[in-house]
Amino acid sequence: MKVIWNSEIVDRSEVRIDPEDRGYQFGDGIYEVIRAYNGRFFCLDEHIDRFYSSAGKIEMAVPYSRNEMKSLVNRLLEETNIDTGNLYLQMTRGISSPRNHMYPDAGVLPMLTGTMTAVERDAVKQVKGIDTIVTEDIRWLKCDIKMISLLGNIMVKHEAHKKNAEEAILHRDGTVTECSASNIAIVKNGEVITHPDGNLILPGVTKLVWKKCAEKLDIPVVDRPFLLEEMYEAEEVFCSSTTIEVMPVRRIDERVLFTDKPGDLTTALQAEYLKEIEQQCGEIVI
Ligand SMILES: Cc1ncc(COP(=O)(O)O)c(C=O)c1O
Repeated sequence: MKVIWNSEIVDRSEVRIDPEDRGYQFGDGIYEVIRAYNGRFFCLDEHIDRFYSSAGKIEMAVPYSRNEMKSLVNRLLEETNIDTGNLYLQMTRGISSPRNHMYPDAGVLPMLTGTMTAVERDAVKQVKGIDTIVTEDIRWLKCDIKMISLLGNIMVKHEAHKKNAEEAILHRDGTVTECSASNIAIVKNGEVITHPDGNLILPGVTKLVWKKCAEKLDIPVVDRPFLLEEMYEAEEVFCSSTTIEVMPVRRIDERVLFTDKPGDLTTALQAEYLKEIEQQCGEIVI
C-alpha cells in the first residue's frame, strides 16, 4: 500500500518510525481526516487550513506550503486508486534524542505520514442513526487543536462501546460540548443549537458545511452552550464529522429519540449536505 512519508509517496513497508519520535514518545503531533468521494477530496482547503491552524497552536512549523500539501495528498489519492475513502494525515514534531520534554531546535524536521483507506458511504446508517451514551468530558482544555494525543477521546469511546453504543456525548458540569469523535447539535422549536467554537470543542469542517446548508434552507442556527436537560427535551439530535457526515442520534442512554426515521430538519440537512458533496466531487450513487 502506498502512503505519504514526509515529502514522498512510498510503499508502507519502507516507512521507519524512530522510537524517539515525539509523536511516539509524547503524543506531540497533529492530524487531519479528509474524506474522498469519486476520487476527489471533499473540503480539502478547509482541512488543510485547520491542519496549519492546529500546527500553529502548538508552535510547529509545517515544512511544506499549502500547495505542496495539496499536491502530495492528491498524488496519494491517485496512486492508491481509492474512489471513496478516508485520508489520515499526521505530523509529529520529529525526533527528540535523547528524550526531552522541551521542543527541539528549529533544525529538527517534523515527520509527516498519510494513509488512505477505502470506506464506502453507509446510506442505511444515515437513516437508522446511532446510539449514544452521555459521559463526562474528561479531556484537557485545548480541544480546538486536532492533536494525536487522543487518550481522553478513546477512553470515552470505549465506554460507549461497552454499553453497546457508538458515540459518547460529552458534558462539562452539565453543559454539552461535543462527542468523542464528532460535533453535536440539537433541534428545538425549529432552531438548530450547537456549542460555539472555542477551546472546548474541535471546530468541525462538517459543521461548517451543514451550517452553510442550514443557511440555504433558511433554518436558523444558534451557537450557544446547551445543557443536558435541553438535549433530553430536544426534538432532534445529530452528530457531525467528516466520516459520518450529518448523523442522526437515535438513542441517548435509555432515551429513544426516534424509531422509524430521523426528524425533518436532520433529514433536510443531510440531503443538502449530499448536494454539497456532489457539487465538489460529482454524483453520489446511493
Ligand atoms: C472530537 C471531535 N470533534 C469534532 C469532530 C468533527 O470534525 P470534522 O467535521 O472536521 O471531521 C471530530 C472529527 O474527528 C472530532 O474528533
